[in-house]
Amino acid sequence: MTGRVEGKVAFITGAARGQGRSHAARLAAEGADIIAIDICHDVEGALPMATPADLEETVKLVEALDRRIIATQADVRDFDALKAAVDDGVAELGRLDIIVANAGIASLGGPVQDMDPANWQHTIDINLTGLWNTARAGIPHLIAGGQGGSIVLTSSVGGMHALPNMSHYVSAKHGVIGLMRSLAVELGQHNIRVNSVLPTNVNTPMFMNEGTYKMFRPDLENPTAADVEPIAAQFMHVLPHGWIEPEDVSNAILFLASDESRYITGVPLPIDLGALLK
Ligand SMILES: NC(=O)c1ccc[n+]([C@@H]2O[C@H](COP(=O)([O-])OP(=O)(O)OC[C@H]3O[C@@H](n4cnc5c(N)ncnc54)[C@H](O)[C@@H]3O)[C@@H](O)[C@H]2O)c1
Repeated sequence: MTGRVEGKVAFITGAARGQGRSHAARLAAEGADIIAIDICHDVEGALPMATPADLEETVKLVEALDRRIIATQADVRDFDALKAAVDDGVAELGRLDIIVANAGIASLGGPVQDMDPANWQHTIDINLTGLWNTARAGIPHLIAGGQGGSIVLTSSVGGMHALPNMSHYVSAKHGVIGLMRSLAVELGQHNIRVNSVLPTNVNTPMFMNEGTYKMFRPDLENPTAADVEPIAAQFMHVLPHGWIEPEDVSNAILFLASDESRYITGVPLPIDLGALLK
């Protein structure tokens, strides 16, 4: 059976764990080879990031699916490193068709007037400028390929909705939608489509951690995920769940990356249990 992205090559950032790893595995299972990058070390002010061992695990997952993967440790803030990674990947794998700009960080920043300016800056640098860097490192290869392409930028429900104490994250994720629309109008002439996914809470380390649990359940000394689920479901969502799985986002990425969505561009696609209805 032919895969839905058979013979294509996808460049994915933040691929060492969480959603990025899931996207790599899903696209590989449908026939794509992968160019993966991840910072693989911690970032000031953010939760612990992925490790080199995590990236190696993604490599094993893709190879177990009989697909090729070129994985590099690189920071999306470093354009030269990103460009070198994607140039090497294309030299090795022969082409580029899909860009998934997924890498990101999150932190509770506090009210605007109290937020550490460094926290604001590195969130904007990674969650917005990092996606701009990712796009501009990959676009020349998509255009040179002459066969169109698909770019998916990971935003968040925070890209269309305010979240208290997270102005840095919310501003970056709103900016991602502006970047997506700008790229869509610029690249349409090359048959390159550009869309965004807007996940609600996802079952990854970014959401599943003590800090998040305490934010949802300040009344408990040691809250757990089970304590958070009903509260998140009730206050955030229309469908009765507290979070989605990385695979739910990967399924949307696969659709947007494949020719099934060949006439869809410029779309912010919520995968959000109805969060944006509230
Ligand atoms: N988890 C959620 O609840 C949620 C909800 C909505 C949107 N998102 C977005 O989804 C994306 C993926 O997050 P996740 O849930 O998989 O979280 P995660 O923390 O598990 O994964 C993020 C990955 O990005 C990498 N990364 C971080 N900064 C980087 C940098 N400067 N350069 C290269 N790699 C870097 C990390 O090492 C990690 O592997 C992010 O953009 C995030 O903002 C997450």
